[in-house]
Amino acid sequence: MINIKSKTFFAAMLAAGLFSVTACNQSSNKQSTNMTDSTTAAGQLPAASNFEKTVDGKQTKLYILKNSKGVQLAVTNYGGRMVSLMVPDKDGKMVDVIAGPGSVENFEDAKGNYYGALIGRFGNRIGNAKFTLEGKEYKLPANNGPNTLHGGKEGFDVKVWDVKPVDDHTLELSYTSADGEQGFPGTLKTTVTYKLTDENAVEISYNATTDKATVVNLTSHTYYNLNGNGAGSILKHKLQLDADQITPVDKTLIPTGKLNAVQNTPFDFRKATEIGARINEGDEQLKFGQGYDHNFVLNKHTLQTPIATLQGDKSGIVMEVFTEEPGIQFYSGNFMKGDFKFKGDIKDDNRTALALETQHFPDSPNKPSFPSTELKPGQTYKTTTIYKFSAK
Ligand code: GLA
Repeated sequence: MINIKSKTFFAAMLAAGLFSVTACNQSSNKQSTNMTDSTTAAGQLPAASNFEKTVDGKQTKLYILKNSKGVQLAVTNYGGRMVSLMVPDKDGKMVDVIAGPGSVENFEDAKGNYYGALIGRFGNRIGNAKFTLEGKEYKLPANNGPNTLHGGKEGFDVKVWDVKPVDDHTLELSYTSADGEQGFPGTLKTTVTYKLTDENAVEISYNATTDKATVVNLTSHTYYNLNGNGAGSILKHKLQLDADQITPVDKTLIPTGKLNAVQNTPFDFRKATEIGARINEGDEQLKFGQGYDHNFVLNKHTLQTPIATLQGDKSGIVMEVFTEEPGIQFYSGNFMKGDFKFKGDIKDDNRTALALETQHFPDSPNKPSFPSTELKPGQTYKTTTIYKFSAK
């Protein structure tokens, strides 16, 4: 279900962008000089110099957004990734709640984990790496067993996005995906805006248009540890999800097309529950995912009410997720193996971070009963997800 929203709003966004570009340029330059010697730990942003690179002939950088409460969000245009987010814990201490690498090289090494990345053209899996649209079959690269995961071998996570700093708390990223890129039809013009609000929320707005009928499902694959990057397991985090059902999967993690009730299963997060409480139960779905790696079917909701709430057991930091999407992939970091480096020179050990990826359901192009992911010429794909932080 693609939302087509008013042109006026879009025009206003563009206009806002045009006259405030300089402000952010200055602020990110200031940040770069402050940060040259710092890499690390839960309390600091990574060095801007770790992000100065040329990838595919394009310049990568680190951009810092700030709000009036001293909260800072670091984003790189390499894969449009969220790198760090410093928010206050229950004692007012600033904690980096984004778990992930601290340099372009370390992001490149850990490509298959999609740390912090914008995902496109299609979030999660498309079964057997193909789909049929308007009577034509499209073949995609298989990069996850027989399936296509997160847009294929070279998804939006490895593209260098064009950047338009809007003001000191807003960054606009764009990427145009050529007709046929990774097998998908249509030239897809994509814009993603990150906005850090004074309410300590990160608002991510996705926009896309096409010149041929296509499918699209964009998301943010940011990994969180609300106790801080490098603060160990997430199994004691408490999670609440406003979902009565999941889309169960087969052993290659493709939805069967059915909807399973969460009641009386380890997938019932309707009341806040520790993530580790049931993760090792002998449930077939948990075995397939090696833990939680499932799309939850969100109950009827609007952008005004959170559909997910996560709390860090040590920090007291709470993250509420608001979205216009019908589903959310809860991934408990099962395939993290300690092979790659996170900020502060620590390893990405198993389940030391988790992702809550808002989305249309996986394999929708092959599942007519799921909400549609089709986008036609003349329509605008437009969807917003908000991650809001507090502490108690
Ligand atoms: C998604 C998938 C997982 C895994 C991660 C990245 O969440 O559903 O199976 O591939 O991305 O490692």
